[in-house]
This record gives sequence, structure tokens and C-alpha cells, in this order.
Amino acid sequence: MNWHPKHCAVIGANGGIGAAFISHLLTNDSLESIHCCSRSGTSQFTNDKAINHILDYDNQESIAAAAAEIKGAGPLDLVIVATGLLHDEKGFGPEKSLRQLDSENLARAYHINAIGPALVAQSFLPLMNKDSKSVFAALSARVGSISDNNIGGWYGYRAAKAGLNQLLRTTSIEHARRWPESVVIGLHPGTVDTDLSKPFQRNVADGKLFTAEYATEEMLKVISGVTAADTGKVFAYDGKEVPA
Ligand SMILES: NC(=O)c1ccc[n+]([C@@H]2O[C@H](COP(=O)([O-])OP(=O)(O)OC[C@H]3O[C@@H](n4cnc5c(N)ncnc54)[C@H](OP(=O)(O)O)[C@@H]3O)[C@@H](O)[C@H]2O)c1
Repeated sequence: MNWHPKHCAVIGANGGIGAAFISHLLTNDSLESIHCCSRSGTSQFTNDKAINHILDYDNQESIAAAAAEIKGAGPLDLVIVATGLLHDEKGFGPEKSLRQLDSENLARAYHINAIGPALVAQSFLPLMNKDSKSVFAALSARVGSISDNNIGGWYGYRAAKAGLNQLLRTTSIEHARRWPESVVIGLHPGTVDTDLSKPFQRNVADGKLFTAEYATEEMLKVISGVTAADTGKVFAYDGKEVPA
């Protein structure tokens, strides 16, 4: 990557993709600090530059509290929101049919995939570097594209990611008024071998199931290349824009 952010934050530090982003960013000599936010407030990173914070969408105050801890530690050049939910051990999972819709599960999908990242934007965007390029990137998914939806299914997750994309675009417009060099984007990582995709990997074409290391390396190239003209858009790991 040609762009070298000094101060970064990754939300979802213990997720497959979040942890891989942190590993990559720590290899950059220009990095001065990386704030690793997770529900537990712990992470695998023992490097002096890695600072752990608790951040849990089920405890809204923890979002602003993490931002308050980070404030003053140096303006953030890069914030990556690598959180998300597709299924859990309590039986929450993607709906195959309209018959399976359930208000609590739909609300849960929206809470973790759309509302949480928007509240991170609310608390973290004021901490971002105003003097030069800054990037706020949230992990979205191609299935959040309405025009690209040709096979149906996964109602809650799709709708929540579409909602996330709209929240990001709206945020990008407001944020650019005071941070003209800012970039607020969504990212589609491809299908990545993590806990989130584990139950759905059977039908992935050969060569299309990426390691988290590969996907994050590619997404960092995208992050490195974007400019203020790209704000509000969603990009796939290969740099191609994902249509709304
Ligand atoms: N894997 C794929 O194939 C794929 C494809 C398309 C899009 N994506 C998107 O990529 C992102 C990362 O997914 P992943 O594959 O890395 O999944 P993962 O390994 O299951 O990680 C999920 C992440 O979500 C965080 N999270 C879950 N509930 C949370 C809550 N209540 N509050 C705060 N954080 C919470 C976890 O936080 P902790 O760090 O605290 O554990 C963890 O970091 C998601 O947005 C996902 O939708 C993934």
C-alpha cells in the first residue's frame, strides 16, 4: 500500500477480517498507533503500538466511551469497521424464504450490520485527521446491492447491508463539508474464510474463497488508492465499484 496512515482504529479486532487488517497495518513502519476495538476489550496483538478498547454494539455507551479514550492520541487517518453478523449460535441466521421472517431477527441483523457502524461513524468521525486524506471504511457486502440481487434470500442481512450503504453515503456527504479530504466508503471483501462464512462455503467456486490475509491486503490497496472523489461509494476487494 502506498498510503501510510499513522494513527488507525479497527472495530472488530477479534473477527477474521478485523484481525487480519490489524496484522497488515502493524507491518507498516510509519504506523504510530492502532486502536483495536472489540467486545471483550482484548486482542491477540501485543505490539506496543496496539491499544485495546471495549466496544460492543449491545452497549451503546461503549462506542462513545471508546472514542473518548482515543481522543487526544493523535488524529485518526484510518478507521476500519470490520464488524458484522450473518448467523450466531442462538439460531439467528439468514432467511431463505419470506415465511422465515421474524421481527426480532430482522431488527438484530439491522442492529449489528447497520446501526452499530453508523454509531461508530457518529463517535469516530470527529476524531479524524482534517489536514490530509482520511479514510473511514466499513465492511459491507455485495449482497447489499439492490440492483445486483438476482437470486433473493438472506432478507435481513441484505437489507441491513443496503441500509449500511445508504447510512455511509449520507454520512459521507455531511462529513465532507468540514473534512474535504475525507473518504467514507463501504467495502466488499469477497468470500473470505472466517467464522461468518463457514456454514456457506460449500458452493463457493474454486479459487474464490479468500484467506483473510489476501482479502485485507487487496482492500488496503483499495483504501490506499481512494480519494475524496470516491467518498460515499462501495468498492469490492478488486477495486471495482459495487452498484447501489
Ligand atoms: N467473511 C465473508 O465471506 C464476508 C463476505 C462479505 C462481507 N463480509 C463482512 O465482513 C465483515 C467482517 O466479517 P468476518 O468475516 O471477519 O466475520 P467474523 O470473523 O465473524 O467477525 C465478526 C466481527 O463482528 C464483530 N461483532 C459481532 N457482534 C458485535 C457486537 N455486538 N458489537 C461489536 N462487534 C460485534 C466481532 O467483534 P469482536 O472483535 O469483538 O469479536 C467480530 O470482529 C462483516 O461486516 C461481514 O458482513 C464478510
